[in-house]
Amino acid sequence: MFNFLKRRSNIQQLFYHTDVHCHILPGVDHGSPDIETSLMLIEKEMEMGINKIVTTSHVTDGVAENSPATLRPAFEKLKAAVEAKGLQVELALSAEYRIDDLFLSQLENKELLPYPNDYLLVENSFQQELLGFDDLMFNLQLKGFSPILAHPERYSYYNHDRYRHLHDSGVLFQANVLSFTGYYGGRAYATAMWMLQNDLIDFLGSDIHNENHARLLAEFTSTKEYKKIEAKLKDRLLNDTAFI
Ligand SMILES: [Fe+2]
Repeated sequence: MFNFLKRRSNIQQLFYHTDVHCHILPGVDHGSPDIETSLMLIEKEMEMGINKIVTTSHVTDGVAENSPATLRPAFEKLKAAVEAKGLQVELALSAEYRIDDLFLSQLENKELLPYPNDYLLVENSFQQELLGFDDLMFNLQLKGFSPILAHPERYSYYNHDRYRHLHDSGVLFQANVLSFTGYYGGRAYATAMWMLQNDLIDFLGSDIHNENHARLLAEFTSTKEYKKIEAKLKDRLLNDTAFI
């Protein structure tokens, strides 16, 4: 008779438990503006089965000029709030690096915040690639980093040959789950599906910036389309194994 008291949720669980791309650190980019929003977004991710989150705030020249000096204090504040609330989630600090002059100077000054095991999340401008991008990816690997390209499906200036070339040269690909919903447009959707069919996706990320993203993700997990992605990726996705 007390069934009505039980918490019910129709949110399906994600088939992996580590989110490798999100903007939940408070007040450092155009993601979460404050600690309350950050905690809410973490709880939404946990409802989907996430138990480890790597925070990847933007580091972009002229837009979000973050560095360890700005990101570490925000991370420590969030970690303390998560512990105070008793949330059972592991947090790690990294960043999403736009490949631009600021990145080059932070690389030079050894100021980067890579993921555990020296994976490094990088993104391109949506207008064009930085000149010398391939050499830079090669040099990062020589320095011991494993570059992960964030949401490659969203770079409309890439063609299939270019994707294959980059992946063959050791650049790992992280697709956004919401690309499979059409959220970023038809071109990103078609490219994400092509990458899926051609075994070019190594990581999935939420790229959560706000509550709307969390809601769309939760809705998508209960669809047939999502189950197809799970079937295709569950044995090759690196989300839960790369950082151990
Ligand atoms: Fe992002």
